[in-house]
Amino acid sequence: MTQAVRICPDRQTLVETAYTLIIERVRTAIAQRQSCSIALSGGSTPQPLYAALALADLPWDRIHIFWGDERYVPATHPDSNYGMTRRVWLDLVPIPAANVHPIPTNLAAPQLAADEYDRQIATHFGLEAGSIPVFDIVLLGMGDDGHTASLFPHTAALSVVDRLVTVGDKDGQPRLTFTFGLINHAQSTIFLVSGASKQTALAAIFAPDGDVNAYPSRGIQPQGELLWLLDAAAGEGLSNK
Ligand code: 6PG
Repeated sequence: MTQAVRICPDRQTLVETAYTLIIERVRTAIAQRQSCSIALSGGSTPQPLYAALALADLPWDRIHIFWGDERYVPATHPDSNYGMTRRVWLDLVPIPAANVHPIPTNLAAPQLAADEYDRQIATHFGLEAGSIPVFDIVLLGMGDDGHTASLFPHTAALSVVDRLVTVGDKDGQPRLTFTFGLINHAQSTIFLVSGASKQTALAAIFAPDGDVNAYPSRGIQPQGELLWLLDAAAGEGLSNK
């Protein structure tokens, strides 16, 4: 794993930096394998990034979009990460419908949605059962509590090792989430973290020792590249690495 920390002066620069790094990695993946698979994070931080990517001149037919986590709500629900991404980005670009892979939250139970997405991912990558695919890019956010994707502190999802996708739990509300194992197989994992409210969790995550159960983002130790993109408000007390 190669790890780097980039602290940007403000949120706009954070978005611009993330945009440039993502475009580079998308183009590299397509040059090497004629395709790029990206797993997106939800929340508020990435929204201006997604709006910027809507203006990018990319070979959209070569790009496959997945979600690293999702709330167990319909696509039309205001909390839907898929719905948000469609509004600010995907409805504005000529990406084939077959290249957009939302988590099937319309299924009757969260575990059914997790199992089905697990199957869809394995099928997309043409994998044997039990193999773990390598996403070209996994975008992640981080909550004030140090969660990432929907891997929340002290939840059962943190211990799931035999699945690609599992059911997360946010204060009793079901979520769907990539597991550590799937995220940690990515070629390039990029955290986008903004705001002073993240400082405490970041300090715990970058501390030499700590508890992954308490701060799940500590569990993101990918075999590929790990980039932490922070704005100055989030990164206060840390340094570029
Ligand atoms: C979600 C996310 C989640 C998010 C963090 C940070 O579905 O909410 O995937 O992991 O990235 O909670 O959210 P903000 O960017 O809104 O701070």
